[in-house]
Amino acid sequence: QPINVAILGATGAVGTELLELLDSRNFPLAGLKLLASPRSAGSILTFKGEKLKVETVEASSFKGVDLVLASAGGSTSKAWANTITQAGAVMIDNSSAFRMNPDVPLVVPEINPEATAHHRGIIANPNCTTILMGLAIYPLHQVQSIKRVVVATYQSASGAGARAMEEVKIQSQAILKGENPQAEVLPYPLAFNLFPHNSPLTDRGYCEEEMKMVNETRKIFNAPTLGITATCVRVPVLRAHSEAVNLEFDAPFPVEKARAILAQAPGIKLVEDWQKNYFPMPIDASGKDEVLVGRIRQDISHHCGLELWLCGDQIRKGAALNAIQIAELLMEKNWLKLTGSPLTV
Ligand code: A2P
Repeated sequence: QPINVAILGATGAVGTELLELLDSRNFPLAGLKLLASPRSAGSILTFKGEKLKVETVEASSFKGVDLVLASAGGSTSKAWANTITQAGAVMIDNSSAFRMNPDVPLVVPEINPEATAHHRGIIANPNCTTILMGLAIYPLHQVQSIKRVVVATYQSASGAGARAMEEVKIQSQAILKGENPQAEVLPYPLAFNLFPHNSPLTDRGYCEEEMKMVNETRKIFNAPTLGITATCVRVPVLRAHSEAVNLEFDAPFPVEKARAILAQAPGIKLVEDWQKNYFPMPIDASGKDEVLVGRIRQDISHHCGLELWLCGDQIRKGAALNAIQIAELLMEKNWLKLTGSPLTV
C-alpha cells in the first residue's frame, strides 16, 4: 500500500540523498511533500522526472502525511515533532533530539530491527559514526562479547551539512591560489587541515559527538555497560567517514574467524588486499550502500584484542539509507500505524 511521505529538510545534504533513495529503491509513494526553511520556499527539486516545489514547513504541512523523514537539525525536529505525531504521522528523525529518549527506538535495521515495533510515533536514526561502527562490530559482538571499544574517527565535512561541504571546496581553491580563507560554516578552516570534532564539549572533556558514540552504541546493542571511548576528528574529506576501531573481547578472537563473519555480515563489504596494501578509503566508500571494512588484525598489545579499519558513506548508510531502511521495515512488518497514543515530547 503506497503511503504519503514528507521530507523535512529536503534541500539539505541528507534530504537530497533521501530523494535519490526513494527513487532508486522504488519506495511505494502515494505522495511526496518537500519541506524546508523559508530560505528555499518555492525552489524546485526533480523527482522521477517530475518537478516538485519546496514548501515552507507549517502546522498544516503534515495533514494526510503517513511518514515524515526529518533531517533539518535538532531544533527543527523538536519544534515539529508533536505536530507531526498529533497529525497521525510517524517521524523518522535524523537529528539527535530524541535518540536517548527511552520511548524512542534508536534503530539500525541490521542490528535491532525489533526495537522499531515499539515506537510511539517517533523513531530515531542514530549518529552517523555510530551506525557505521555498529554495523561492523555487532556481528562480532554476537559471536563473542566485546568488553571495550577504543575508536578514533576521521569524519568528513558532509556531517556538518551541504554548506560545510561547499566551504571545504571553496577554501581548497582559495588556498591553492595562495589566499588565506576564513571559515564561516565550520569553526576553523578544514581544507588542508583537521580539527577535533566541533560539537560542544561535555564536562568530562569528551565532545558530544564522542558521547553519542558511547551512549547510542550501548542503546542500540542493548549493552548498557559496554566500555567505549572515542576521539572524533573532522578531516577535509567530502562525504565518507573513516574509523580506526580497537576491540577487546572477553576471550581471544581469531582474525580469520572475524574475517569470515564480516564477509557474510549484512551491509558490510570486506576490502582487503594485503599484497597491494589496499584497504577501505573514503573515495571508494562515497556513494556506496555498504560499509567497507578491512585491515582486520590481531592487536599485538592484547591477546583478546582486534584492530579494524572502516569507511562508510556518511550521508548514505550514516543517515539517509538507514532512515529509508527503517521506513521499509515499518512498511514490510505493518508497523507504521500506531496502536496506542502518540508520544508527546
Ligand atoms: P534550507 O535549505 O531552506 O536552509 P544541511 O544538513 O545540509 O545543512 O541541511 C539542512 C536542511 O534543513 C535544509 O533542507 C534546510 O533548509 C532545512 N532547515 C534548516 N532550518 C530549518 C527550519 N527552521 N525549518 C525547516 N527546515 C529547515
